[in-house]
Amino acid sequence: MSLEEAARSVRENAYAPYSHFKVGAALRTPSGQVFLGCNVENVAYPEGTCAEAGAIAAMIAAGESQIAEVYVIADSPEPVSPCGGCRQKLAEFSTGDMPVTMATLDGAETTVNMRDLLPGAFATSHMKAS
Ligand code: THU
Repeated sequence: MSLEEAARSVRENAYAPYSHFKVGAALRTPSGQVFLGCNVENVAYPEGTCAEAGAIAAMIAAGESQIAEVYVIADSPEPVSPCGGCRQKLAEFSTGDMPVTMATLDGAETTVNMRDLLPGAFATSHMKAS
């Protein structure tokens, strides 16, 4: 199954009764394993989690920690753009060359690499005592 198909499929399971905006994310690790996530909202709005965060949590729970590529899809007019927090979360487990594909349900896609998605990302190199 392609990352696109996987992301489309898991998006259907999103719990988004407040925004009604379902998001699906599928990431592949260098070993070839695929991990999925969808957004999970909460009546206490800030407690909701993004699709990307869910996929990352599944990857870590499985004992992997490197993202080779990621695909994010939503029913949006333009390819859905990962939020700022998710960009930082993705950067934690990837290199600057990691491709991030953003998509719409209609089939529009944009791929950018992590470096361009989050220029100047906060990294361990910014911490004096790391
Ligand atoms: N959302 C994601 O899951 N990923 C993103 O990158 C953007 C936003 C979710 C969070 C919330 O449940 C809904 O989309 C509307 O913001």
